[in-house]
Amino acid sequence: MIYLDNAATSFPKPSEVYGEMDEFFRERAANPGRAGYRLSTEAEKGIETTRKALAGLFGAREPQRLVFTLNATDAINMAVKGLLNPGDHVITTTLEHNAVTRPLNSLERQGVITVTRVRPSPQGFLDPGDIKRAITPKTRLVALVHASNVLGTVQPIGDVGRLAREKDLLFLVDAAQSAGLWPVNVEEQCIDLLAFTGHKSLFGPPGTGGLYVGGRVELRPWREGGTGVDSQNPVQPEDMPFRLEGGTPNFVGLAGLKAGVEFVSRTGTDKIRRHGQVLLSQLLHALGDDKRFTLYGPSDTENRSPILSLNIKGMEPQVVGTILDESFGIAVRSGLHCAPGTHREIGSFPQGTVRISPGFFNTGDDIAQVALALKEIASSAAVSSRE
Ligand code: ALA
Repeated sequence: MIYLDNAATSFPKPSEVYGEMDEFFRERAANPGRAGYRLSTEAEKGIETTRKALAGLFGAREPQRLVFTLNATDAINMAVKGLLNPGDHVITTTLEHNAVTRPLNSLERQGVITVTRVRPSPQGFLDPGDIKRAITPKTRLVALVHASNVLGTVQPIGDVGRLAREKDLLFLVDAAQSAGLWPVNVEEQCIDLLAFTGHKSLFGPPGTGGLYVGGRVELRPWREGGTGVDSQNPVQPEDMPFRLEGGTPNFVGLAGLKAGVEFVSRTGTDKIRRHGQVLLSQLLHALGDDKRFTLYGPSDTENRSPILSLNIKGMEPQVVGTILDESFGIAVRSGLHCAPGTHREIGSFPQGTVRISPGFFNTGDDIAQVALALKEIASSAAVSSRE
C-alpha cells in the first residue's frame, strides 16, 4: 500500500510516537494531576512538557494559555462559541474547512452573528486587502485557514494578523494543515486564537489537538467539569488552562503527541516541508503537461503545502480513487474534503477532486508510481470512451 492521504492524517507516525505511547500506556498511565501519588504527578508533568513543547513551537510566551482539545474542530468550536456575542460580525473566507464554516453558518442562521466570506484568487490565495475592505464597525473576529486542505495554498497570516491587530479585531487561525509544517508564531503573526490538530503534521495520534488563547481573549468555557484543582469551587476555575479543560484529558494521546512534537523540533519544520514540496514538484512535473488531467491550484510549490487536487477529464474522482486503491494499492482521498466552498471556487463542486497528499515518509518512488497509475487510468478511460 502506498499511503498518499497525509492531509487527512499523517501515516505512518515516527517510531518514537508508537514507542512512547506503548511504554506510557503499559507502565505509567495514571490519571494526571488527580492525586498526590508519584505516578499521577509524573503523568501531570508529562502533559505540561507537551504543553510547553507546543507553546515553544508556536512562539507562545504563556504555555498555560494553550489548552488541549480533541482536534482542530473541537478547538475552533471552543473559540467561536466561547467568544461571539449577538450582533458580532465575522470575516472569514470561502476556502475554509467545514470545521470553521459550519459553526459560523449555524450562528448566522440562528441570527446571532453576521458573516462576510472573502474569496481567494483563482489560484487559491487570499488578498489581505479584501479582508480590510470587509471590516465593519461590528466586526469582532477574522477567522482564516492557514493552509487549504484542498489546494495546499498557504495564506499570509502574518499580514492578516497585523491588520486585525491594527483594527482591534481578534484573529483566529485554523492551523490544522500547517502546524508542524509551516512557521507559526502567535506573537509575530498577531494570532489571538490558534486551533491545531495533533494527528497531521505534528505526527501525534488522533484525539489530540489544542487551542492557543491569547491574552486579549477570554472565552466562555463550554466543557465544564473536574480539573483536579480548586475542587471546592462550584463553577469552573478562572485560571488557564483549567478554565477550558474539564475532564480527564487524553493523556495517552498526549504522550504520543509529545513524541511527535519532539520529532518535528528535532527534524525541523523546514526540512519536513521541503521534503513534501520536492515530492509535490515531482508530481506537478509528471502530470503538468498532460492534457488529460485538470490540476487545481498553482503550477509551482511556492507558498504551498504538499497537496495536489486533480481530476482526470471525463472521470468521476470517486471512481479514480477506487481504482487507485483496488488496482494499484494507492490510498488517496476523493470528493469534497469537507471544504465545499473551495471546490465551488475552483469549479469542482459537487463531484470534488482526487487529492494526493504526500508526507514525510513518502519517497520519490511513491510519486513515480502514483503518476504512472494515474496515466494508466487516464489511458483506459480514453479507450473506453472511444469504444
Ligand atoms: N480535514 C481532513 C482532510 O482534509 C480530514 O482530509
